[in-house]
Amino acid sequence: MSNEGNSSSPVLSFSDIAEELKPEAAVAFLSLVDELKRKGINVISFGIGQPDFLPPKEALDAVKKALDEGYTKYISSIGLYELRQKVAEYLSQKYGDEIKPEEVAITVGTKAGIFLSVMALVNPGDEVLMQDPSFPAYEATVTIARGKPVFIPLKEENGYRLKAEDIITKITPKTKGIIINDPHNPSGSLLSEDDVKRIYEVAKEHKLFIISDEIYEDFVYEGKHTSFLQMPDWRDNVIYLSGFSKTWGMTGLRIGYMVARREVIEKVEALATHTYTCPPAPLQFAGIKALELGLDFFKDILKEYKKRRDAMYNSLLKIPGVSVVKGPGTFYLFPNFREVLKATGINNVDELAKRLLYEAHIVVTPGTGFPKYEGEGHLRFSYVLPVDKIEEGAERIREWVLNNSNRK
Ligand SMILES: Cc1ncc(COP(=O)(O)O)c(C=O)c1O
Repeated sequence: MSNEGNSSSPVLSFSDIAEELKPEAAVAFLSLVDELKRKGINVISFGIGQPDFLPPKEALDAVKKALDEGYTKYISSIGLYELRQKVAEYLSQKYGDEIKPEEVAITVGTKAGIFLSVMALVNPGDEVLMQDPSFPAYEATVTIARGKPVFIPLKEENGYRLKAEDIITKITPKTKGIIINDPHNPSGSLLSEDDVKRIYEVAKEHKLFIISDEIYEDFVYEGKHTSFLQMPDWRDNVIYLSGFSKTWGMTGLRIGYMVARREVIEKVEALATHTYTCPPAPLQFAGIKALELGLDFFKDILKEYKKRRDAMYNSLLKIPGVSVVKGPGTFYLFPNFREVLKATGINNVDELAKRLLYEAHIVVTPGTGFPKYEGEGHLRFSYVLPVDKIEEGAERIREWVLNNSNRK
């Protein structure tokens, strides 16, 4: 007889970390959405952050060709040398330095880059600074390493930009480094060149590592992205992370890359060997082809995404009680729904997100998933769908709010 679900199993007791970790909020909502879709309900999703366009066909053909040619074996733990070379050339051109292939590691998505770099740098008890709100993997990986995540609240009045002054107030003798995501998920904010320079100076002065997750570097609608790879001595303390998921629409192919001084790459190689042996070889041919093709195909996508950002912003403003910062980057907006909570008598955004899903058939991610403090009162909207769907979705929320508020 199966004892599935028997919580008093004499054999299994979970680790503290397994007990502590929760699934990523945006991913957790996917299964609820599937459930509604299976029932034939027309759900509009502003949930998970995944572009709706396909990768260039030539890139996918390159994967098929690689499979036909027998690239089905183990390879180096830090990826195909040819892809490392291409990434080094591409980023050298993009950010104006001479990056060597030996300073590049290919990872299983940018997420593995986050995990491996944290494992390479964080000891138990080390404090690691991070933006609040921020991508939940930062808190999770630092916790797995038994480090201490220390959150730096981003202020709505600063457009959710991380400020060097705010970093300084959180530094203690135990601070080992800082994880920065720019352009920023979930707010869509973008650091100025001056912000990046000042943050870099503070980190150097206090001997902190910077893990810089720049996965949204190409989704910029106003202003210009500055990379930490553009800082003069980045090799001293910067670990740059990015990948093919967003710009190239390759979320499911799981190809990310890391750039850092050679010693870091060597440590990451050892960690990757014992974690997943190697990133899958055939899929990396999509990356090689993509970088050969260059970013021309992305120009039209960027124009379309800017229209979507504008439509999302304008439609959110029509919902009574909602305020929102018009983030110049990524494909997310992070509106403040505190007034809506008050008007509808709903306790928190987790409950609000569930009500919107079941009653208005709209998927949004509660701000508390990023990962907990400053996200309260906020919802994250991922605008990876056509303008008419964005408008229809926001209108459904507006009607739902009107029908459920005492301000009618
Ligand atoms: C800030 C940030 N970093 C990393 C990732 C993960 O990217 P990948 O698909 O390359 O693992 C995401 C995905 O949403 C993200 O938002």
